[in-house]
Amino acid sequence: PRIVCVVAARPNLMKMAPILRALARTLPQLETVLVHTGQHYDDNMDGEFFTTLALRAPDFRLQVGSCSHAQQTAQVMQRFEPVLEQAAPAAVLVVGDVNSTLACALTAAKKQIPVFHVEAGLRSYDRAMPEEINRLLTDQLSTLLFTSEASGTINLQREGISPARIHFVGNVMVDTLQHELPHATPPKEVLRQAHLAGFVDHNGSYALLTLHRPSNVDDPRRLRTLIETIVKLSADVPILFPLHPRTRAMLQLHELSGLLDTPGVACLPPQSYRDMLGLMKHARVVLTDSGGVQEETTALGVPCLTLRDNTERPVTVTEGSNAIAGRDPSVILALGRDILRYGGKAGRIPQLWDGHAAERIADHIGLWLNNQDDH
Ligand code: UD1
Repeated sequence: PRIVCVVAARPNLMKMAPILRALARTLPQLETVLVHTGQHYDDNMDGEFFTTLALRAPDFRLQVGSCSHAQQTAQVMQRFEPVLEQAAPAAVLVVGDVNSTLACALTAAKKQIPVFHVEAGLRSYDRAMPEEINRLLTDQLSTLLFTSEASGTINLQREGISPARIHFVGNVMVDTLQHELPHATPPKEVLRQAHLAGFVDHNGSYALLTLHRPSNVDDPRRLRTLIETIVKLSADVPILFPLHPRTRAMLQLHELSGLLDTPGVACLPPQSYRDMLGLMKHARVVLTDSGGVQEETTALGVPCLTLRDNTERPVTVTEGSNAIAGRDPSVILALGRDILRYGGKAGRIPQLWDGHAAERIADHIGLWLNNQDDH
């Protein structure tokens, strides 16, 4: 049998690497076909990750690039359909919640090809997020749904999905994190390479910031307020800010880059996986609107402030090191200063975030394939 596995954007790559490894080990008779939709394409958002994570070269590249949601989704569908015709797979495996995840799930479902969704069931209950729409619809179309935390399973059951199709397997991002942690770049080295050797304060401490959600960066007033808040916090701790291409573009478009021209903030290009891991692990606090970073800081026990009003990953708050800071400057500053003074919460590692999620996925896929043979 054959299974088509889809990657599209940076966060998909960390999820797919351990899955491909586990499938090759557990189900050597299963052929995997790797498809890259091309939603992300810059070397520092894409190519470099393939090398570090030892992901093999894709068998198909759809090269959709950046465009509107409708265009991007439609183009992935148009270009994915012939791939399915050629590969005739037993199933399509998709990860996460990007536009390509939904586009490929929808294309497969219309061709009556079973869909497996990894990281199913996460819900922010905020439909202004494009990812929430992608998550809801992908899950409705999926045959096997692999959840990373208990909330995912509960949400899916509430949406009427048969419990027999839902498998709580843990978090594949953590599989990659554990695999790569011994190779994480020391922050000193990252700073040296960025010509920022003297940037950290006398204790060697710094905060790390990432921002890329459209709800934070596309609206110029909101972006300005957030950046002004960060500049204020930088009086207490130096802040490293790797800039996502969307954020860099918005700062330029709205002429806000000048605000970041301040000694306490250093902007960096998008970081490699190992550099980012080193920066997260040793940060005093991480401020972010990314879903993956909320999970990674929980896995590392590093305090995280989420600059959003909600999270689709509530276990990072109830058990992990994450807190919802929202977007109110006074709240962000108070919570940030509190962590700098008292250390913040370390939390504990959520259930099944143990580095073996991909193996459990491979086992479930093996059982499913056996059942197909029996019918
Ligand atoms: C996408 C995902 C988001 C995920 C994020 C991780 C959707 C709806 N969003 O958001 O869930 O958290 O990836 O990074 O699928 N660009 C480049 N180089 C690239 C890719 C993008 O310069 O390699 C720029 C382009 O100007 C593009 C913009 O970034 O217009 C946004 O890219 P896009 O893929 O539309 O969404 P992201 O914001 O990256």
